[in-house]
Amino acid sequence: MRDTTIKSEATALNSLLEKVHQDGGYDFREYKRGTIVRRLERRLHATGAKTYLNYIQFLDAHPEEYQNLANDLTIRVSGFFRNPYTFQQVTKLVLPELVSSKRDKKERELRFWSTACARGEEPYSLAIMLAEFLGSQLRDFDISIYATDISRQALEEARAGVYSPKDIEGIPSTILKNYFTLYDKGYALKTDISQMVSFSYFDLTSTTQPPFVDMDCIFCRNILIYLQVQLQEKVLKMLYDSLATPSYLILGEAETPTSNLNEKLESLDNKARIYKKM
Ligand SMILES: C[S@@+](CC[C@H](N)C(=O)[O-])C[C@H]1O[C@@H](n2cnc3c(N)ncnc32)[C@H](O)[C@@H]1O
Repeated sequence: MRDTTIKSEATALNSLLEKVHQDGGYDFREYKRGTIVRRLERRLHATGAKTYLNYIQFLDAHPEEYQNLANDLTIRVSGFFRNPYTFQQVTKLVLPELVSSKRDKKERELRFWSTACARGEEPYSLAIMLAEFLGSQLRDFDISIYATDISRQALEEARAGVYSPKDIEGIPSTILKNYFTLYDKGYALKTDISQMVSFSYFDLTSTTQPPFVDMDCIFCRNILIYLQVQLQEKVLKMLYDSLATPSYLILGEAETPTSNLNEKLESLDNKARIYKKM
């Protein structure tokens, strides 16, 4: 009896995720089920649906619910200089080597990609990190920081680039003073920082073709943990193809390359999750 209930719940969940993909345009089919189920329970509760089948009917009657669902299923927790050790080690292990090899090759372009950028904290932290590292030599380089996400709401807030006192907690006061301006609405990034970053919608799981090529450094942090292993492999292969040779890949604290890339990436710092494509 219990087995039958579990099986029919799993079938209903599969149907729901298929529907969200087909009709809502969001593909959560290969995300880890535990997180998806916990988050879905919130939507069921909020809409008064008792079962997944009830919720499917609710989606048919209220298509605007797809957006609420996507907002709940995308976990947008982030922060400026999240995991400070990683930023410290990128400044120490990646930037000196990258910048000196660009100088040797007489190349001006520095290309970064923040692949799940949430509300912009990560790509803006990268821009500040580069400004701090390069100082007056910042102008010697053409810096592009591409920042992508599937949450349209997060992207909108990221483009606005205005943060509350809570959002900027923990940012050292000199960084705050040099790179932010305080307005009525909150702390806004100064334009020399914000203009380095361009935001766009991109679903990391949607294709094997990278949207950007010749990237010098990719940040893919705190998104792989939500994906099943096969999907992690697909995403990481696509990112590998997007990277220049040589170049750097930075993962989240609890993330590691999947086995398909083990041989192809050299670990520069196991704790900071910094990898080099040779
Ligand atoms: C926990 S946040 C991580 C933000 C930032 N990278 C960090 O480490 O602080 C995860 C982000 O991944 C985004 N996301 C989830 N699935 C995605 C996908 N398939 N493609 C791109 N972004 C995705 C979510 O919208 C969310 O903003």
